[in-house]
Amino acid sequence: MQPVVLITGGAGYVGSHACVALIESGYLPLVLDNFSNSSVESLRRVARITGVQPQLVEADVRDASALDSVFRSGPIHAVMHFAGLKAVGESTVQPLRYYAHNLAGTLALAKAMQRAGVRNLVFSSSATVYGEPGIEQLHEDLRCDPVNPYGRTKWMIEQMLADLAASEPGWRIARLRYFNPVGAHASGLIGEDPRGVPNNLMPYVSQVAVGRLDRLRVFGGDWPTPDGTGVRDYIHVMDLADGHVATLRHLLATPPQLLTLNLGTGRGTSVLEMIRAFERASGRAVPYDVVDRRPGDIAACWADATRAAHVLGWRTQRGIDDLCRDAWRWQQANPRGYGG
Ligand code: NAD
Ligand code: WQD
Repeated sequence: MQPVVLITGGAGYVGSHACVALIESGYLPLVLDNFSNSSVESLRRVARITGVQPQLVEADVRDASALDSVFRSGPIHAVMHFAGLKAVGESTVQPLRYYAHNLAGTLALAKAMQRAGVRNLVFSSSATVYGEPGIEQLHEDLRCDPVNPYGRTKWMIEQMLADLAASEPGWRIARLRYFNPVGAHASGLIGEDPRGVPNNLMPYVSQVAVGRLDRLRVFGGDWPTPDGTGVRDYIHVMDLADGHVATLRHLLATPPQLLTLNLGTGRGTSVLEMIRAFERASGRAVPYDVVDRRPGDIAACWADATRAAHVLGWRTQRGIDDLCRDAWRWQQANPRGYGG
């Protein structure tokens, strides 16, 4: 029988790509999502790519009785927990909503797992937990000091999970710190579908290229970086999805442990380099204006990706040109996302 993995937030951007990678690796995803930032269409597309329709429970991850009935419905081998809110700016305006969905959501999930005796968990954390460390290459052992409510929810969850793992034998927990996930499945059938005007660089660039937005604003041309624009570690979402499968395999094959891993490429790319790569991939111009720095941004950061390589034997396979090509394929085929 194929092992079943509960995927909270599995209809979302990273979760839907993880569903594809899991199915292709012999796992059966069972998705729990409240569709607050996604649509059921992503799961239909997962079925078109893989030939397997993920089972779906429409529920809020904070709903203890919904979680209990999911765990009672049959054996669940592990949980991948993607459900949560992720907009940094919004988290400063609605912090309690972020603590409710992210922190209380994970608490409800961990308690339900404890009741059900399921102790294998892969958690979506973020490089945002590092805050403003003053260095560019970020290693997992750096002190975490997040600078916004979203980041604090992730760091609090990480600590809660560490306390849980220390308190009770048998937990296998991975805290995965993603850098900047971008791109789409190579089929162009699933991808990132932000609601409203995108906050992040890649979906904004894609929407300018496709003509849905006029011009990109480049936040700062005077950063202490080679071309003056911000530098980040952009990881292809399918590399990220593969990293989840590698993590799960590793957790299930080794003794109980708490694992903390960066998932990134280990390389930095500037905003201008990204614009040029996207122009090459799409054959379209991406007009932009350099404007003031965005509050809360840092100049440059990228992952120290050596621990994931050493522990999992996993490395990213795709580069900037691949991720621009795949993001463009998705954007061109779905100019309005899953909505049409
Ligand atoms: P997303 O918004 O596309 O996916 C999140 C999914 O969770 C959505 O389908 C949403 O409907 C669902 N959801 C939200 N609150 C829920 C709740 N209370 N109950 C049930 N479902 C709920 O986001 P994503 O980009 O796929 O991110 C997935 C995870 O990875 C998040 O936890 C996010 O914080 C983390 N992460 C994302 C990034 C990124 O840039 N995309 C970077 C680092 C970490
Ligand atoms: C990338 C670069 C911007 C938009 C965020 C979260 C982080 C994580 C990933 C969840 C920066 C510049 C952007 C634009 C621009 N998410 N930029 N014009 O800020 O590195 O990370 O997403 O965990 O927590 O903070 O990503 O894509 O917003 O920005 O010039 O319209 O692009 O200044 O240098 P960021 P981003």
